[in-house]
Amino acid sequence: MESTAARTAPAVIVAIDGPSGTGKSSTSRAVAAQLGLSYLDTGAQYRAITWWMVTNGIDLTDPSSIAAAAGKPDIVSGTDPGAPTITVDGTDVAGPIRTQEVTSKVSAVSAVPEVRARITGLQRSIASAAGRGIVVEGRDIGTTVLPDADLKVFLTASAEARAARRSAEIKGADVAATREALIKRDTADSTRKVSPLAKAADAVEVDTSDLTLQQVVECVVTLVEEKRAAK
Ligand code: DC
Repeated sequence: MESTAARTAPAVIVAIDGPSGTGKSSTSRAVAAQLGLSYLDTGAQYRAITWWMVTNGIDLTDPSSIAAAAGKPDIVSGTDPGAPTITVDGTDVAGPIRTQEVTSKVSAVSAVPEVRARITGLQRSIASAAGRGIVVEGRDIGTTVLPDADLKVFLTASAEARAARRSAEIKGADVAATREALIKRDTADSTRKVSPLAKAADAVEVDTSDLTLQQVVECVVTLVEEKRAAK
């Protein structure tokens, strides 16, 4: 429920980063909905550009082919936390970007500097257009995309907790195989040269391994309210 304070409060920019399976998306959406803010899933944007490259037969083993195509697709994100959307050249790709094929290729595409420059530009213009503020979730939001965010949160969780959550999302998935795939993707995302997954020096770290979603949401809402009160 949105409060009167939320309607009159100054715009607030919240950056939520962390590896896969830490509850970033569920937390970010719930915090944005509760505080009347917009919401941006930046992983969906990297997935969308990857989906376009796969669909258009771009050679994903060749970074220069990826770089040359980076400016071509038109990626549009809808930022309502109750019903976020993502389109590529006008096509709804919310389903296709979650396939195993896209998931296994997104790290290679998102490591290419031209792709990051393109998507980072989109993210900054969406954040600056969000009149009442926005929750932006990703890997490099607090460090690179929005270094002046009012609040930076870095979510972590044990590999076991993350794999168990992801396997529950993808019904019937094998936990051990999911754990291996998660670790492989996190290693690729953390070790790439351009804006790797990293905790900003001024981010608040929250280990979600033993917390419920509701507890994590309450913790982040409290942090946002503290920042708002201090503005
Ligand atoms: O959050 P996700 O699993 O949907 O993200 C998909 C991939 O996108 C992830 O493996 C790394 C990349 N990504 C990124 O490089 N930078 C971001 N800000 C968000 C995601």
